[in-house]
Amino acid sequence: MKELLIENLHVEVENKEILKGIDLTLKPGQTLAILGPNGHGKSTLFNALMGNPKYKITQGKIILDGEDITNLSVDERSKKGLFLAMQNPCEVPGVINAEFLRSALNARKEKPVSLYQFYKLLDNATKKLNMPFDLANRNLNEGFSGGEKKRNEILQMLILNPDICMLDEIDSGLDVDAINDVSNAIKSLQDGNHCFMVISHYARLFNLINPTDAIIIVNGKIVLKGDSSLINRVDKEGYEFIKSEYGIEIEKSTEKSMNQVSIGVCATKEMSKNIHEK
Ligand SMILES: Nc1ncnc2c1ncn2[C@@H]1O[C@H](COP(=O)(O)OP(=O)(O)OP(=O)(O)O)[C@@H](O)[C@H]1O
Ligand SMILES: [Mg+2]
Repeated sequence: MKELLIENLHVEVENKEILKGIDLTLKPGQTLAILGPNGHGKSTLFNALMGNPKYKITQGKIILDGEDITNLSVDERSKKGLFLAMQNPCEVPGVINAEFLRSALNARKEKPVSLYQFYKLLDNATKKLNMPFDLANRNLNEGFSGGEKKRNEILQMLILNPDICMLDEIDSGLDVDAINDVSNAIKSLQDGNHCFMVISHYARLFNLINPTDAIIIVNGKIVLKGDSSLINRVDKEGYEFIKSEYGIEIEKSTEKSMNQVSIGVCATKEMSKNIHEK
């Protein structure tokens, strides 16, 4: 039973302050929906909690069950029960998915699981997610479709059984059946012993997993805390009411999210500019 306390968290990325004082308490059994406009710091919060070194904590603390974990490395946090399903899972050529999962599982066990036990676990989890088993034998995320990558993140969650599950836009790119499979997997862990923080822009997933609480992050701060009624309000009205009712100006995210920029895009733009100039 793990309780997570986030105190006055300030986070900088590339020398720019993104999170400006986040306070949150999460208890087992809670499912927190995290909403907010693009580029306002939701993924930054998850990256900072997980210990991604690019995301520098300049003030504040992260306390897990009374222990200050603010300065622990990613793997230490993972072993203590934190898990992040990434918005854009990366491809790792040369690493077999199943081998990766077995190593990650064994790293948190005193006695390694036998190959038979592991494959039984993997078989159950892939069946639960309606995933073709051969994805487990391929290189980690390499050549996976968008939806397959997302299911694979949830497969990791089922195998590792973490106490605190952070899911970043796990529903993006999923077809209707896949959303149902993923929400069933989440529901199977909503047993009072786990806690969830779930980022999404859409009510559909939230309506399936029934969050106990909801927050809205704007300009790197939590501007509203409430229950699941917040989700339906945002779904119907967008974020305009944050300004009209609470007087909070929503800063325009001027920089494109790193995740949306690729060298390919830049190179194409550069090329077309050269062609036009000629
Ligand atoms: N690794 C990074 N390098 C540079 N800037 C970053 C990095 N990660 C985040 N940022 C910047 O921090 C700001 C917040 O980004 P973040 O990814 O947390 O937004 P978000 O709320 O998750 O948005 P979205 O809903 O689009 O996923 C953005 O301006 C983004 O460009
Ligand atoms: Mg994000």
